[in-house]
Amino acid sequence: MSKRYTITAALPYTNGPIHIGHLAGVYVPADIYARYKRLTGNDVAFICGSDEHGVPITIKAKKEGVTPQDIVDKYHAIIKKSFEDFGITFDNYSRTSAKIHHDTASEFFKTLYDKHEFVEEVTEQLYDEEANQFLADRFVTGTCPKCSNEEAYGDQCENCGSSLNATDLINPKSAITGNVPTLKETKHWFLPLNKHENFLREWILKGHKKDWKPNVYGQVKSWIDDGLRPRAVTRDLDWGIPVPVPGGEGKVLYVWFDAPIGYISATKEWAASEGKDWEPYWKDENTKLVHFIGKDNIVFHCIIFPAMLKAEGSYILPDNVPANEFLNLEGNKLSTSKNWAVWLPDYLEDFPNQQDVLRYALTANAPESKDNDFTWKDFQARNNNELVAIFGNFINRVVVLTNKYYDGIVPEASEFSEVDNETLAAVKAYPSVIESSIERYRFREASQELMNLARLGNKYLADEEPWKLIKTDEARTKTIMFVALQIASALATLSEPFLPFTSNKLKSILNVTSSAVEMSWSDILTKDILIPSGHQIGKGELLFSKIEDKTIQEQLDKLEASKKANEVANKEVEPQKDIITFDDFTKLDMRVGTILEAEKMPKTKKLLILKVDTGIDTRTIVSGIAESFTPEEVIGKQVTVLVNLAPRALRGVESEGMILMTETSEGKLVFVNPDTTVNSGLSIS
Ligand code: MF3
Ligand code: ZN
Repeated sequence: MSKRYTITAALPYTNGPIHIGHLAGVYVPADIYARYKRLTGNDVAFICGSDEHGVPITIKAKKEGVTPQDIVDKYHAIIKKSFEDFGITFDNYSRTSAKIHHDTASEFFKTLYDKHEFVEEVTEQLYDEEANQFLADRFVTGTCPKCSNEEAYGDQCENCGSSLNATDLINPKSAITGNVPTLKETKHWFLPLNKHENFLREWILKGHKKDWKPNVYGQVKSWIDDGLRPRAVTRDLDWGIPVPVPGGEGKVLYVWFDAPIGYISATKEWAASEGKDWEPYWKDENTKLVHFIGKDNIVFHCIIFPAMLKAEGSYILPDNVPANEFLNLEGNKLSTSKNWAVWLPDYLEDFPNQQDVLRYALTANAPESKDNDFTWKDFQARNNNELVAIFGNFINRVVVLTNKYYDGIVPEASEFSEVDNETLAAVKAYPSVIESSIERYRFREASQELMNLARLGNKYLADEEPWKLIKTDEARTKTIMFVALQIASALATLSEPFLPFTSNKLKSILNVTSSAVEMSWSDILTKDILIPSGHQIGKGELLFSKIEDKTIQEQLDKLEASKKANEVANKEVEPQKDIITFDDFTKLDMRVGTILEAEKMPKTKKLLILKVDTGIDTRTIVSGIAESFTPEEVIGKQVTVLVNLAPRALRGVESEGMILMTETSEGKLVFVNPDTTVNSGLSIS
């Protein structure tokens, strides 16, 4: 039965491009769902857009010396293009700086204000005297009161996931000047979540929401069980949507208040351009509203936004919020600031026209129920062992043989064997199998079922061996090829949500794009023949190609380089040691020494035994530099030596002094030495 669906995908922040984590967690599953719902005949509005407000965007603009508008314009264009490039079929990709959004969000706020749904309160907020501004959200960092992470933000601790108020932070520090903030009074509007607690408890915990994913349900339950408190929905900032009520001058709506309303504004914008009415998509009880998000967005979509919608009074509430966990990359957390990511524009440059490979690898390994790791090796294996060896191989055999034996014309089948009948019946079952996984938001499982259909085809051909029978039994060969072509046709349609580019290619190879032979999802269930005898198919074209080790190594090298660059940039400077007196200093006797001999300390990795001319004498010094230098390299080098350090034995060799060194960001030791050759024994002071 056809239904109306409003499907939303989290509006990405517009302060950087998007990476594989975003794609895997939100946009690919949302797109699979939307495509599938359209294919099965539903009325779908698939909505997204850029989230262009919030403090990180202001901070980035400040850092780059441009305006916030410049930042959002730049990344809105980049992100929008990535989504198009990867075949994410939003019906509308809008932005929260659009006028329609400002109007919609203002109006929403005013409605709640007029209904006395807010609590107005003057409270003390953190203030940066030097920057002359209040410090909300990411403008302040400090120690998390829950887990003691010292780098928590004023709105959230990324270590323990707690959502915070800036004033909760211990030892707060301004992100603008580094100063310790003062407290200053200011008025804000709060959404009294406590007032909606009973409703939320009924709706989520006692309602039918038990079918929500356990990770989502669990998080929401613990929030509600902890007790809900009023949340400020306005901020003292100058970037955002102005607070549209008396006393709101100089203040804006909190980004998490306006952004989810962006789903509504984007729907309005889309409906207007299509000549449709937007309201049924948000107000008709029969519409199914589904939010695709990442796990850090759960509280906003399951508690705060529903409370806002409920308070407004005329909207439907989400039917499901299938949030994903996080994707890691090669064992480490994805991070924009550390450049630990695979950015979509970079991927496309390195793997042109291979969007489906990434879509597939990310779906097959999606972080649906726990955090998961993306590795380039797995990506390669998914491509080579599944897309190439199973899906691509099957299609290639079918197309090549049909062209070779029958000039590309689908042959007549004669009598079906038992295996043929079983195979055709199995094909018919696939739409329901895949459907059942998708309906439970299990996209990994669904993608594996699709691959199983290709496996079935592959096995059928391998067992029936038409390439052998062609010599002895023409009629049987025709029947086999007819059956194989039916499987190929089913794959062309069923792969569309997962591998849209491949599906298109395959449809054009099979020449099933014209309306006469076009097939729908349900045709596979109901029709006995998907591609009829006598139909002319096209020439083959490889759907996938093998990815070599070398290509994978290049990606790993890229990541390694960004790790190195990071280490250099983030090298921590140790705090200064306790003050010493001049007398303390003069106790150190440091001289220029010249290394005369060097050999490895037997059975150690790190130690070299050096003979050093100190000007005073020639002495033995054992030094832990063997991982940075060979003995040959150091002979003749001049170095700084602390000569009056009490001798000590290392592995039975008495060491009479210490050589001064430092370490490069790559971990290589370097000597502290005079920059020109001088006499051994000169004092360093
Ligand atoms: N911009 C937010 C993020 O990237 C998501 C906003 S979702 C919306 O985490 F509901 F607010 F739109
Ligand atoms: Zn914490």
